[in-house]
Amino acid sequence: MAEELHIAQGGKEEKYALLHKQITEIVRSEEDIIANMANISAMIHQTFGFWWTGFYRVQGEELVLGPFQGPLACSRIKFGRGVCGTTWKERCTQVVPDVEQFPGHIACSSASKSEIVVPVFNKEGEITAVLDIDSEHLNTFDNTDKLWLERIAELL
Ligand code: SME
Repeated sequence: MAEELHIAQGGKEEKYALLHKQITEIVRSEEDIIANMANISAMIHQTFGFWWTGFYRVQGEELVLGPFQGPLACSRIKFGRGVCGTTWKERCTQVVPDVEQFPGHIACSSASKSEIVVPVFNKEGEITAVLDIDSEHLNTFDNTDKLWLERIAELL
């Protein structure tokens, strides 16, 4: 397994492409989902310097906080609530350019200004988790982030 994170020079595409390659290696050599979520959070977070990067896992009727990097976050989110709960309900990625414009957004931190949440599916097509990334800046996430983060979520 790669013991050190190499961060590509250049733009977002190059960074995501290398990140995807490294995550593929990590996931191939480790079957424990928590260990993989922990390393994926760390690698994305370190590559892009986001405010908060982590997973919430589906546990019954709620999403429960999983491995993450960044400040303290809320532990549980109900189905359909906030951006994470909406991703679970709608079964698709939510790109939020300004969290204040998102009805029912759950503010774990007032520093968070924009956000992307990507669903993680199992082989049966059920959502088992969501990958949540928060930025301190408005309009951080676009279609490039969506595409690559969905590819990363598919590796789990
Ligand atoms: N903002 C999220 C809650 C989780 S934190 O940002 C880490 C939401 O509305 O789902």
